[in-house]
Amino acid sequence: MTDAILDAALRQRAEAVMPGGIYGHQSVRFLPSAYPQFFSKGEGAYLWDVDGRKYVDYLCGYGPTLFGYANETIDRAYTDQLKTGECLTGPTALAVELAETLTRMVSHADWAMFCKNGSDANTMATMVARKHTGRHTLVIAKGAYHGAAPWSTPFPYGTTPGDRAHQIFYEYNDVESLEAAVREAGDDLAAILASPIKHDAFIDQELPNPDYARRARELCDEKGALLIVDDVRAGFRLARDCSWSLVGVEPDLSCWGKAIANGHSLSALLGNDKARYAAASIYVTGSYWLSGAAMAASLATLALIRDTNYLEETQRLGGLLRQGLDAAAGRYGFGLRQTGPAEMPLIMFQDDPYLAKGYSWVSNMLAQGVYMHPWHNMFMSASMTDADIDFTLAAAEESFKALAKENPQAPPPQIVALNEILHAA
Ligand SMILES: Cc1ncc(COP(=O)(O)O)c(C=O)c1O
Repeated sequence: MTDAILDAALRQRAEAVMPGGIYGHQSVRFLPSAYPQFFSKGEGAYLWDVDGRKYVDYLCGYGPTLFGYANETIDRAYTDQLKTGECLTGPTALAVELAETLTRMVSHADWAMFCKNGSDANTMATMVARKHTGRHTLVIAKGAYHGAAPWSTPFPYGTTPGDRAHQIFYEYNDVESLEAAVREAGDDLAAILASPIKHDAFIDQELPNPDYARRARELCDEKGALLIVDDVRAGFRLARDCSWSLVGVEPDLSCWGKAIANGHSLSALLGNDKARYAAASIYVTGSYWLSGAAMAASLATLALIRDTNYLEETQRLGGLLRQGLDAAAGRYGFGLRQTGPAEMPLIMFQDDPYLAKGYSWVSNMLAQGVYMHPWHNMFMSASMTDADIDFTLAAAEESFKALAKENPQAPPPQIVALNEILHAA
């Protein structure tokens, strides 16, 4: 691997003018030390770091670029709209067209509101539920990520207990735990908020148990509360509808972001008629929420979602990757925990409590030009090909071979540091 000279220089400059360097989920401070922080280019399924090294990328910008980086059709729609109208004094007709398109595609939805980030959409959903019910309490799965607003951010520094009041937690997929949380909420239940699959960091992913999803629906109906599905990460990656259409459950509200505009900044809250009056009553807005270009990109993205076999193809390629990795790991005496849907792979090692094997393995993959994550779910790109999977599996073979020689045991320093922060929080 060539030296990360430009990356190191940028990190140093960032430290001086950006507090702590790069922040949030795109900071690499908890990733293995060889991971580049800065990139110069993305095209299709590939990323280039600032030092010119190319990677097959399994993160897709942490989810958005479903149809690959710099997708020509989508980006043409975006740039054409930039020329005619981006940030105007009011929205363009695209806002209405996009709301009509999304409500046609997502079965539970009768209306749409647009914003910029998944955090915005989730915050709006909680406001709609609280306005609709006149109640406060949210029942939320423990450990689920719903954004980085003061009520939801996983590191609570800078928030008040009041920001995080009126929240009761339950274990995902556990009907008894969900029922107990709803009982505890008593007559103050505003909403049950659920991820479509359990895709929390650091632990195995879980598909939703249909009994659990159905019970969440029933409990909301019994209590007059709203059911919210946070489809920001998984939306349109598992289905061409809301992800819980796969278990036959319709929420009242669903939150969207990431893939809906293939990397252009747009998110959405979709809802049914029951929630329409409350949604029209809350005051929410942002200088760029109704801007035209991301909406044009979204319409082009949704057309590809409807008209191509991207879903079947990402599932097929994800399946090939999963099978190939299991076989290669087995040849070197390793067992993998590959959980969740194949199109949103999470790859962890058995007998690896401190992620020592995982950190070493992904570092070797990176050195061979494959960008993977040791503890966050990843995303297949519709622009990947069989050749990319073959390339990845060849890199994996070498990386398992190297891992068998290294046999690392000690917890990586990044994990030790992260644990210390989480303990202190
Ligand atoms: C399930 C889920 N909800 C909400 C969010 C927040 O989205 P954003 O980062 O766009 O605010 C994310 C982001 O990763 C997410 O995965």
